[in-house]
Amino acid sequence: MPKRVYIETYGCQMNVADSEVVMSILSKAGYTPTSEINDAGLILINTCSIRDNAEQRIWGRLEVFKHLKKKKRDLKIGIIGCMAERLKEKLLEKDQLVDIVVGPDAYRELPSLVAEAEAGHKAVNVLLSREETYADISPVRMDKNGVSSFVSIMRGCNNMCAYCVVPYVRGAERSRNHESIISEVKELFDNGYRDVTLLGQNVDSYKWEEGQSVVGFPELLQKVALVDPLLRVRFSTSHPKDISDELLHTMARHNNICKHIHLPAQSGSSRILKLMNREYSREWYMERVKAIRTILPECALSTDMITGFCTESEEDHKESLSLMEWAGFDFAYMFKYNERPGTRAARKFKDDVPEEIKSARLSEMIALQNKNSAKLKKNDIGMIFDVLIEGISKRSAEYLSGRTSQNKVVVFPRNELSKGCYARILIERTTSATLIGRSI
Ligand code: SAH
Ligand code: SF4
Ligand code: F3S
Repeated sequence: MPKRVYIETYGCQMNVADSEVVMSILSKAGYTPTSEINDAGLILINTCSIRDNAEQRIWGRLEVFKHLKKKKRDLKIGIIGCMAERLKEKLLEKDQLVDIVVGPDAYRELPSLVAEAEAGHKAVNVLLSREETYADISPVRMDKNGVSSFVSIMRGCNNMCAYCVVPYVRGAERSRNHESIISEVKELFDNGYRDVTLLGQNVDSYKWEEGQSVVGFPELLQKVALVDPLLRVRFSTSHPKDISDELLHTMARHNNICKHIHLPAQSGSSRILKLMNREYSREWYMERVKAIRTILPECALSTDMITGFCTESEEDHKESLSLMEWAGFDFAYMFKYNERPGTRAARKFKDDVPEEIKSARLSEMIALQNKNSAKLKKNDIGMIFDVLIEGISKRSAEYLSGRTSQNKVVVFPRNELSKGCYARILIERTTSATLIGRSI
């Protein structure tokens, strides 16, 4: 019987990319992936620790797995990723349920850790590394559409934003060799992929040094764009303190570098930004947005925002709202501040904004963003976009669905084109999440 592994992924795109690396490592060790949990001899959960509710979801899943394990005694369960790194051996205490705990830099050890678990021992490896980038590992693609894929270009983070657990669970920042990135992208293109997203917690600080030569992010992005004009290139996440004009000019020069920047502001108050240790002010952020609007007039912009960070006053909150109004974000991920153990904010500041106020501010922010994005969508009516087709629309088999360079979802009546092709679409109407048009 082949050994089957089922993997469930939570958290950010980095975890999605990591699960593909994990599958590759386990495939070489004789495991085959399954999408049917009941067939699996090994279940892995790739976890997230960013907010407490992300971890609560995992505890909830473990309750479900408890029943599976009762039915199937030799089933092995592994917790991998950020929560494994944060809680380490503590995860083994849960009802004797978890057999394997592996942090994000120890995936190469998975085959031996699984073997150890199969021999009846608990297996843990949560060592962080200064070098590991899994550069030589060719990920097993688990995406559904075969058109768009993530490519990890760096790991870890050196930024130490006061609220954030990522530097503790992902370790120090390190960049991956650009040659291995380019060969992975070429392979994706040859296999029919037409959209790659280069991933890192702070892509602007990508840097590969070899002897005298240094490859920074703008240069890497250009190299990827030159793989083929039919390949779209995206990236995430940019840090406002590091995003350079050189990068914006590189984006302007290449039609296939997508015109969308995810530029998390977190707050619109310089005082809060300072406490957050974001290393930029409201004015700096606004200046960067102006540069984007000047150099890349058709660029879409999105953000992450946190409400109710330590000491946030009504006035600070209003500054976040006014920044959002001013910037005109096409999209925003908005969160209530959640204190994470061990972070700088947890050690130094009091989590002093009451829960009801955090919630009220979040609702107000979401309402504003909904209004802004609806207004911006209206501006797209009558515009023409090149849409990369990703497949048949989820809502109706009569429609195809794809995305614009700006990362906006477009649906249009089905024609002879299929996924991986580009269609030129005139936008005729919009819903809250989607642009609807017809092929011209
Ligand atoms: N590297 C990226 C973001 C990583 S985490 C960046 O710097 O922008 C994704 C988002 O989660 C963050 O942008 C932030 O808005 C949010 N986040 C992180 N820690 C949080 C916390 N303790 N409470 C609430 N939101 C948090
Ligand atoms: Fe966290 Fe800041 Fe690093 Fe983003 S840049 S991962 S928010 S520490
Ligand atoms: Fe979560 Fe880890 Fe990503 S904490 S947001 S999965 S880097």
